[in-house]
Amino acid sequence: AMAEKAGYRHFMLKEIFEQPQAILNTFRGRLDPETGKVQLPEIGLNAVELKKISRISLVACGTSWHAALVAKYWLEKWVGIPVEVDIASEFRYRRLLLDETVMVVPISQSGETADTLAGLRLAKKMGAKVIAICNVLGSTITREAHGTIYTHAGPEIGVASTKAFTCQLTALLLLTLFLGEVRKTMSAKNRKAIGHALLELPALMEQELPRLQEETARIAEAFTHSRDFLYLGRGSNFPIALEGALKLKEISYIHAEGYAAGELKHGPIALIDRDMPVLALAPKDSVYEKVISNVEEVKARNGRIILVANAGDKNCRRIAEQVITVPLCHEELNPILFVVPLQLLAYEIANLRGCDVDQPRNLAKSVTVE
Ligand code: AGP
Repeated sequence: AMAEKAGYRHFMLKEIFEQPQAILNTFRGRLDPETGKVQLPEIGLNAVELKKISRISLVACGTSWHAALVAKYWLEKWVGIPVEVDIASEFRYRRLLLDETVMVVPISQSGETADTLAGLRLAKKMGAKVIAICNVLGSTITREAHGTIYTHAGPEIGVASTKAFTCQLTALLLLTLFLGEVRKTMSAKNRKAIGHALLELPALMEQELPRLQEETARIAEAFTHSRDFLYLGRGSNFPIALEGALKLKEISYIHAEGYAAGELKHGPIALIDRDMPVLALAPKDSVYEKVISNVEEVKARNGRIILVANAGDKNCRRIAEQVITVPLCHEELNPILFVVPLQLLAYEIANLRGCDVDQPRNLAKSVTVE
């Protein structure tokens, strides 16, 4: 079994470390290094059809739903199309306003999730264009969608999704660049900048992974016996807070909640005390100051703070008990980079608690029943 895990203690750890290669496999052959132009012929829609899209509807469960939430920020910012995001089990039981101008995008690692598949079938019946984002070749969702953008993450064995998630994000960013070009909503300059940053991401992640594991392992020791955790983020990193909290819940059985940092004062701040550690995502982006002021509110109430911030951030040591640093890169790529230490932190805490990381209790890799 050690051989299958390539020397890693668990599939989850192996899959976390495979992310640089997996992300490369997602954009290889699709992203032009010179121009930042993206080819996605598998969508199977011509320029006229692509220009007619009035709305994009993203449908998924769990971690795949978190990828959809990040993509809403990207697509609305760079393509200017309204994007709605649904949890598949909600999508299938509400009144849907779909027609042939709506592009419905089911997102699924396994391609077998029952609710996501049911959502796909409803959308097809209503005439929408259905383009799936999926990891497993030939899975039911890929067979029923009009087109599939494969993530090419390779097989994911750990029940807690890691590389499939960062590859879904990569595929969704490619879709953003693609639609931004076809619909002429994005300048060549912006497209190139994001394209180049994406090309450099695998090497950057590869270089940082060992250090991130060391840092998170050290921090994990200080929080092994916590019973609750709050994860905060804003903008496209708000869904990363949700994902970090989900990873911790799934494998360590610690209760964790993800919150939009600006929502703190609308309720959860009542929970802050020494027993409710707060992990905040604070990349140097357009909402950085806002996050810091939210974190100051936690500090003022004597909360314990773990800050995930960019290297060189002077503020963070003053505010936080623990700091995890992530290298500076293009703002749009932060969700892909910042989730990595959160995966590792959950992994390290779960291990210290003696949990079965690859096969957590009560969970299945794919949920094929309602
Ligand atoms: C992720 O860690 C979970 N185990 C789970 O939320 C998963 O993402 C969800 O069940 C969706 O699965 P899918 O991507 O295969 O459709």
